[in-house]
Amino acid sequence: MAGWSSEFSATDIVPFTIMDEPLAIYRKEDGTLAALEDLCPHRLAPLTVGRKEGDELRCMYHGLKFAADGRCTEIPGQERISSKVCVRSYPIEEKHGAAWVWMGDAEKADVSLIPPISGPDSTEFAMVCAKFVMKGNAELVADNLLDLSHAPFIHESTFGASNMKSLKLMKEGETKRGTAVLERGVRADRWHAGRQSNPYFGEVPSDDRVISTFLVPGVFILTIHSYAPGVQDRLVDGEPAEEPIFRRCTCQMITPINDTESMFFYNFGPGVERSDLKEHAFAIADAAFAEDKAIIEAQQATIKKVPGRKMIMLAMDQPVLRYNEIYDGLRTKEAAEAAQAPAAAV
Ligand code: FES
Ligand SMILES: [Fe+2]
Repeated sequence: MAGWSSEFSATDIVPFTIMDEPLAIYRKEDGTLAALEDLCPHRLAPLTVGRKEGDELRCMYHGLKFAADGRCTEIPGQERISSKVCVRSYPIEEKHGAAWVWMGDAEKADVSLIPPISGPDSTEFAMVCAKFVMKGNAELVADNLLDLSHAPFIHESTFGASNMKSLKLMKEGETKRGTAVLERGVRADRWHAGRQSNPYFGEVPSDDRVISTFLVPGVFILTIHSYAPGVQDRLVDGEPAEEPIFRRCTCQMITPINDTESMFFYNFGPGVERSDLKEHAFAIADAAFAEDKAIIEAQQATIKKVPGRKMIMLAMDQPVLRYNEIYDGLRTKEAAEAAQAPAAAV
């Protein structure tokens, strides 16, 4: 993910770095997005300090102009333009109120791989969307989201959990409905029964159904539906037949900026029927994500001091291990395909 749709105006050229590659993202005249490498091939000045001219970008150092497909269309004072004078153009699509860039081979870009997040345009959840730079490797952020057993500790004061007591309650009240390994991620479907209150509207007991999906390359989608206590005894064909008393959703997208920094895009929102709680619910979640940020940044700083030190895996790390297998499998497959590609493609 390269940004929320609202970050791209009709006039600005927005800089954003993904995996150490600087991008210049802008809107064309028809409103669709374009993404070029943020680097004029002449003297390597950034195009983001250049000028948008219709669908093209002009470098404001010596005036070279580039089309949205990366071709150079003008060199001031020179007739012939070699096809070698060009910038890389990246496939970019807008969906669910967000911009998605494909960093790999352009011909392999596939819009069907854009994850089904609930964005600012969701008709189900009233979402508030935000982002911040996390000074941590993207995989540390993924590990954090894959293993929610950190909640009673890190989120002691935000998500209404209080240390060992709530961890014990969480475990005792937890029923696993299913943990599925997907082609491009993992999904867990659980009941957390016996909740006495929630941070959104107070002392309302509930049994919560928590469904979390984590997709490569770093997209987390979580929905929690709270039902009146005992709902698990009233299921019809394994599903609740009653309306939830409260539901909420959060989506979190991790985009690696470089080895030690990631952009953390996130949102949070109640079901549209309780949009009155939108700002209040987001503020709680926002404070919780700041707690994750603090620990991940501290973790990254420690890792820097002890390069090469291995981490240990515990029972709670099962989802992390499963996800890493899928991730590594896809990476290996992609590398093998690249190695087999005809040399002419280079
Ligand atoms: S650096 Fe861009 S035109 Fe010279
Ligand atoms: Fe967290």
